Amino acid sequence: PRQIQLAPSLMTMDLDQFKEQISFLNERANLYHIDIMDGHFVPNITLSPWFIEQTRKISDLPMSAHLMVTDAPFWVQQLIDIKCEMICMPAEVSNGVAFRLIDQIHDAGLKAGMVLNPETPVDTILPYIDLLDKVTIMTIDPGFAGQRFLSVCLDKIVHLRKLRDEHGYGYQIEMDGSTNLAHWKLISDADPDIYVIGRSGLFGLTDRIEDSWDQMVHEYE
Ligand code: DX5
Ligand code: ZN
Repeated sequence: PRQIQLAPSLMTMDLDQFKEQISFLNERANLYHIDIMDGHFVPNITLSPWFIEQTRKISDLPMSAHLMVTDAPFWVQQLIDIKCEMICMPAEVSNGVAFRLIDQIHDAGLKAGMVLNPETPVDTILPYIDLLDKVTIMTIDPGFAGQRFLSVCLDKIVHLRKLRDEHGYGYQIEMDGSTNLAHWKLISDADPDIYVIGRSGLFGLTDRIEDSWDQMVHEYE
């Protein structure tokens, strides 16, 4: 198969093994996926810009922030301040600020993405799709790991690939939510560029990251 990128979702890792797991993943993953919630846009609170800075002390991998927040301008600025490599905001709250925020991110030399929740159609981002570096398709309702996989959302990945081919757009396509062995065939048919792997697909598989990683990679090959 074509080269895919793997993005461990660090909100699902074991904090008691933080350093060991990050050193292991540094050699194998392509980027880290950092979920940032405000307890308002979704009913949970997980990681933060501070967590990104802490992780940077022991990793050189690019960080991709997945914002699940109501006040996107505030959080985008926080992430620009710490030079988070990829800043992905919810398409649902971008109304009236999308162009400005994308420009701010690009002016800082960083990458800009939009995230589509399960009920949000691809059409929402069409006005500025040519400006995006990444589009993330949620295949679960955002907020928590280990939820029901919504296979219907995979159609949006196929749609986005088609749009990209037709128009020569530059975005990467990422999928986030219950990426795991049980759904691997369906997902690889939809063919996203980046797989976010969390509790369902990596950290929850076994007690040792080495074994979990082997299981996951073995299934993909
Ligand atoms: C949930 C997050 C996901 C989550 C995925 O809102 O966006 O990144 O960590 O975890 P799994 O893959 O276990 O659903
Ligand atoms: Zn996420």
